Amino acid sequence: MPDAVHSSVPHDSAQRHVAGTAIYADDVPEPKNLLHLAFGQSPHAHARIVSINLDAVRAAPGVVAVLTAADIPGANNVAPVFGDDQLLATEKVIFVGQPVFLVAANSAKAARMAAKLGEVVYEPLPAILTIAQARAAQSILEPAQVMVRGDMAALDAAPHRISGKVEMGGQDHFYLEGQIAIATPGEGGAMHILSSTQHPSEIQHLVAHMLHSQDRPVMSADVTVEVRRMGGGFGGKETQAALFAAAAALVADKTGRPAKFRADRDDDMVMTGKRHDFEAEFDVAFDDDGRIRALRLELASRCGCSADLSLAINDRAMFHADNCYHLPNVEIVSHRYKTHTVSNTAFRGFGGPQGMLAIERVMDAIAAHLGRDAVSVRQVNFYRPGDRTPYGMEVTDFVADCIISELLESSNYAARKMAIESFNATHPYLKRGIALTPVKFGISFTTTHLNQAGALVHLYADGSIGLNHGGTEMGQGLNTKVAQIVADVFGVGLDVVRITATRTDKVPNTSATAASSGTDLNGMAAWNAAQTLRGRLVEFLGGDVVFKDGKVTVGNQVYDFGHVCRMAHMGRVSLSATGFYATPKIHYDRKSHTGRPFLYFAYGAAVSEVVIDTLTGESRVVRADLLHDAGRSINPALDLGQVEGAYVQGLGWLMTEELVWDDKGRLLTHAPSTYKIPCASDRPEVMNVHLWQAGENREPTIHRSKAVGEPPFMLALSVLSALTHAVQQATGRPVITLDAPATPERILAALRHG
Ligand code: MTE
Ligand code: MOS
Repeated sequence: MPDAVHSSVPHDSAQRHVAGTAIYADDVPEPKNLLHLAFGQSPHAHARIVSINLDAVRAAPGVVAVLTAADIPGANNVAPVFGDDQLLATEKVIFVGQPVFLVAANSAKAARMAAKLGEVVYEPLPAILTIAQARAAQSILEPAQVMVRGDMAALDAAPHRISGKVEMGGQDHFYLEGQIAIATPGEGGAMHILSSTQHPSEIQHLVAHMLHSQDRPVMSADVTVEVRRMGGGFGGKETQAALFAAAAALVADKTGRPAKFRADRDDDMVMTGKRHDFEAEFDVAFDDDGRIRALRLELASRCGCSADLSLAINDRAMFHADNCYHLPNVEIVSHRYKTHTVSNTAFRGFGGPQGMLAIERVMDAIAAHLGRDAVSVRQVNFYRPGDRTPYGMEVTDFVADCIISELLESSNYAARKMAIESFNATHPYLKRGIALTPVKFGISFTTTHLNQAGALVHLYADGSIGLNHGGTEMGQGLNTKVAQIVADVFGVGLDVVRITATRTDKVPNTSATAASSGTDLNGMAAWNAAQTLRGRLVEFLGGDVVFKDGKVTVGNQVYDFGHVCRMAHMGRVSLSATGFYATPKIHYDRKSHTGRPFLYFAYGAAVSEVVIDTLTGESRVVRADLLHDAGRSINPALDLGQVEGAYVQGLGWLMTEELVWDDKGRLLTHAPSTYKIPCASDRPEVMNVHLWQAGENREPTIHRSKAVGEPPFMLALSVLSALTHAVQQATGRPVITLDAPATPERILAALRHG
């Protein structure tokens, strides 16, 4: 039997994913009386609702119920923290696509057709749509946040000083399975919700508050949220799933019938939040080697119409504006702008990519200014023992320097860079570029209390194991890893472990599966539960007990694991246990922006080589070499999949995925026909992806592994730097302004004016 941990067992649903037999919410057989839902949506970015006449909607064929905010018994709110996202609009609408009324009909088509018949009269109001407009109007979510260390007088004292600006677009999650929820009313006011969500507990709590009234109290224990798997979440189902779940629960509550909300792709793209677009301005001073003496960085993001998770996301952008570099004198200012656009939300990296893009642009600008190789500029700025981050945390586990030495060699960086420069010298219109960028990503939720998890493990008397934990499966392989961890405790094979759907009635008060912490938190909670059970078995058996290869050895007796469970049951030993874990050591003071928000850092590095066509602006990545630190990987195959997928998703953000709104605040790119995610042919022709063999977590995480879900997304920053290098080579100009996504238009513009 292969070692259950540190081995590349396939994802538990791998075959079902490929064969199409994995069951997603929309595949669950529909009950006969199921209602289908659609929203009537706002056509305005900002308007007062003057009147609503829904007679034509009610009279439309197949319509069973039409609801407005007035029909909500309790709180009209689907927001995660600040109570500022309405389920159905009252008085005002604040973004295009905002739900105003809700239609329930006998078919999805009938609901959608009827929703178009609403007669809502609006009085349009001036709308603030962009960062520039919000800055001018000072439309903000909260006052600018400032992180400072050292003495900014150093800006004036250094031999070199340059400034610049970079803009980066947002990103749609484009999960393959769209937003969906099915609510089924039970007896005594109970409500069951099957949802495609990263955060079942939040939906449970929001729905309980939404249905609660003085006449008919509804509490969290009345609502059960269940998730077997998502067809991708990427942060887009951390808060955004609540809208659809709450709508389904409201209809189920009002009509007594089960209700399904399966958002159409275009509506999903218009109605749900995305990655924040950012602007970053830098003013940097450095010495002749490119070592930074002082940096002033000003970040500005478009948060949209409500807070959602924007405060934490912008905080994370600040936390990652150092990336791997020691900034002795630094001031990071972060503006969080409020606009009449859909409320932006979590997306893989959670603000980290935006902060890191800014500092990587600074590195490229310094290298270009000095005419030095960009890798050497990065290296002289690396953290050294004893250095602290801009938020005062000592960096004690820095390994990016080791990873980069290995990668420089394995990718043959120096020789290829020379070959690229001689190619560029002779080719009339194709220009190549190459860049290496490192990643340092902090692991833990920066909101400290979220760093906890629970699990529930049952041993059945035949030796099979039922496993439940608070995390959700979205394709990343969390369930497989947690099953490996539990199987390892009992020395049994994965074939006896059954992973069951995540349910709020099994493990309560869970955090979202987010911040890449799924395995760190839930894996440890499940390990703790399994250890409790193992301890009980050891105590029951007495003496020296060894669990290995499906057998239990006690002295010189050898039993099957199943036999031991049977004996323990006969001996009246409890074979069910809960486990809990809370991340140690972390603390953070948001007022001063200092503390230790992260238990540890995950590291990696990438070399990307690109080619641009200077006539058309088209580009592609021809080769990528990725080396990533997953600690002592629990499952190298799954972790490699995360590294590769994250890099390609990042490449999409930086190259082709462009969100375009018109001047009325309408999203024009709301379908795959106009919004271009990477496809198989956009994958680099040569892609060498490796986990760093020396990787080990210095903190006692589960089996010394490191979180891997988000960090490798930022390996794709090397693509933007490589494109910048190619433009530099083409123009001979040192400092380049190439914004993201680097579409053909932007590359052409950079070639002309950069
Ligand atoms: N991988 C797949 N296949 N699908 C996803 O939706 N989400 C990413 C990452 N990898 C995602 C994914 C994001 S945003 C996070 S935070 C982590 O997975 C969450 O899971 P984990 O904490 O178990 O790594
Ligand atoms: Mo991931 S953005 O933390 O869901």
